[in-house]
Amino acid sequence: HSYVIAVLPGDGIGIEVMPPALRCLEAAAKVFGFHLEWRHYPWASCTYYHQHGKMLPDNWKPLLQACDAIYFGAVGDPATVPDHISLWGSLLLFRREFDQYINLRPCRLISGVTSPLANRDGKHIDFVTVRENTEGEYSSIGGRIFEGTDRETVIQNTVFTRIGVDRVIRYAFELARSRPAKKLTSATKSNGISITMPYWDERVEVIGKEYPDVKVEKYHIDILCAHFVQRPHIFDVVVGSNLFGDILSDLGPACTGTIGIAPSANLNPSATRGESGDTWMPSLFEPVHGSAPDIAGKGIANPVGMIWAGQMMLEHLGEKDAANAVMGAIERVLKVSRSAQLRGESDILTPDMHGKGTTEGLGRAIEEEILKS
Ligand code: NAI
Ligand code: MG
Repeated sequence: HSYVIAVLPGDGIGIEVMPPALRCLEAAAKVFGFHLEWRHYPWASCTYYHQHGKMLPDNWKPLLQACDAIYFGAVGDPATVPDHISLWGSLLLFRREFDQYINLRPCRLISGVTSPLANRDGKHIDFVTVRENTEGEYSSIGGRIFEGTDRETVIQNTVFTRIGVDRVIRYAFELARSRPAKKLTSATKSNGISITMPYWDERVEVIGKEYPDVKVEKYHIDILCAHFVQRPHIFDVVVGSNLFGDILSDLGPACTGTIGIAPSANLNPSATRGESGDTWMPSLFEPVHGSAPDIAGKGIANPVGMIWAGQMMLEHLGEKDAANAVMGAIERVLKVSRSAQLRGESDILTPDMHGKGTTEGLGRAIEEEILKS
């Protein structure tokens, strides 16, 4: 097999974590016998914006549609380009144009990463948040009336469509069915938001009838956030609307340690590669973190989020064994490195994991571990 991957490192630490991540994926390809063809692009970055006055070249869409998947670093240079220009001009445009309606974030307690949730009676934390990524609360329907008067009123409507709600709920049920715990938790707020959220609950119930083997629970978003912190081990797959999913998908990774290790996938699971490229909608894989201007250029960014995002990409491409090998390598390297750190021996963990290591050093260690599989 051979896969064509668009590589968009972006800005800041995106440029630093991409090379070690590419080496890790190449190592996996070598061991498991497939080929990865990288198409490197400098656009979707603020550097490109400064040179061209725009974030993307005019033919960005066919260029990306010629690829099986998009591997994205991070975009943003808040000191020189407003974030809404850099984000809407790249990542958010890709999500919308390629109808990437699922935002998937695994959330796992990794041995070796200090987390506020650690030592929870040895209970394992391993869940996935599934966020609706295209509609819901993030609509542009609404506006201001009576502006500047004491009756000033601002309205923004939530839009739930049957297709939009059903496809994310169905995806979450399928995912839950494929996992050992077979449990789905739905984020709601039907006690307060009395029109849209009861509809969401209703669709969970209707679709749930097709999945009698999956256990379903629902929680209002407020108490659900509390449970994420206090009882994270009870979750398996958690599904939420655009807003609730946004909150949960940042809270989850934050609870399992550093944002530097968290990956994210923006998926269009309905897209199938057709004969002509112009209808193909590739999925996008990225770390959760941004361009981190505060540490950019120092060579100390944690590369694990980028590598783990690549692991999700391999899984999506159907290279399950390679994906498992990359995950195993990440886990083993972090665990061994943490033990070495505690013994005061060579410390390759990056500073966000309380170490003295570098992007390059940690990336190499994971690459070498993959080559051993
Ligand atoms: P950020 O994620 O870039 O940084 C937040 C904090 O986490 C910083 O202290 C940073 O040093 C640390 N951090 C992040 N990734 C790390 C890593 N791999 N290793 C070690 N430490 C890490 O978020 P921030 O500061 O809010 O945004 C900076 C820029 O990134 C902005 O322009 C923002 O718009 C953009 N951004 C882009 C995203 C994307 O491309 N998907 C996502 C989030 C932010
Ligand atoms: Mg967010």
